[in-house]
Amino acid sequence: MKILSDPRKINQLIRRAKRNGKSIGFVPTMGALHAGHLSLIRQAKRDNDLAVVSIFVNPAQFGPQEDLKRYPRPLKNDLALCRKEKVDLVFIPEDKMMYPEGFVTFVNVEGLSGRLCGAARPGHFRGVTTVVTKLLNIISADVLYLGQKDAQQAVIISRMVEDLNFAVKIVVMPIVRGNNGLALSSRNVYLSKSQREEAQVLFKALHLAKLMIRHGQFNSSRIIEKMKELISRKKQAKIDYVAIVDPKSLGPLKKIGRDCLVCLAVKFGKTRLIDNLRITCG
Ligand code: PAF
Repeated sequence: MKILSDPRKINQLIRRAKRNGKSIGFVPTMGALHAGHLSLIRQAKRDNDLAVVSIFVNPAQFGPQEDLKRYPRPLKNDLALCRKEKVDLVFIPEDKMMYPEGFVTFVNVEGLSGRLCGAARPGHFRGVTTVVTKLLNIISADVLYLGQKDAQQAVIISRMVEDLNFAVKIVVMPIVRGNNGLALSSRNVYLSKSQREEAQVLFKALHLAKLMIRHGQFNSSRIIEKMKELISRKKQAKIDYVAIVDPKSLGPLKKIGRDCLVCLAVKFGKTRLIDNLRITCG
């Protein structure tokens, strides 16, 4: 496994591999790898000749009041996991290599970036799309692997790839959950024992929505109301949003048709968790 931090060096290596006919699968991460990331890495290994993982805690996607400083950085463990999964290349750039002095260019996906999480985290998705653009230019992958856990991120990046003619295919892998239903996230390490227990309610709320739809309730506000009621029973839960949206436009759906995305963001103490469930009917 090669570990590189210089964008030019990894770019040269990948270009050489591509000239030799190798396909490149790319998994962008901010480290603190868990089973969710590993599922992406394994799929990248299965589908491609070379699997590339980036580990970069991207300052551009954190707001001034957010957790950039305390974001977990267990690099040794991350590298051990990558080695175990037989990742071919790991890219670990430094901040100043990605954002050198004088950096002023950003990529923004209009509209989509302001919805759902974008409303509470202004600038967040602009930071994500900017860094993913840079990473795709550096890595020039054939396939980009993303997780459904960050459903809005996957929709926004897919839109950007289409709009800006990136020659990359996107594969979105299912959410990986713990036994208690809690979606795996690098931020789960922040949760206290009681918060972790309470957070199980998020998956229950998503399932409540599924059940209500299966029983013929297609009025979103009724479902959202019941979900909020259930979540609010937990003392430490502070709801940011619960929404039922169109899976592509992320616009709110008043009436549920064939396909919808039920999504939520809830804070437990200082930790903001997101989760979602795609529900298709008929
Ligand atoms: O999902 C993440 O970990 C990040 O948003 C990403 C895609 C690696 C960009 O920094």
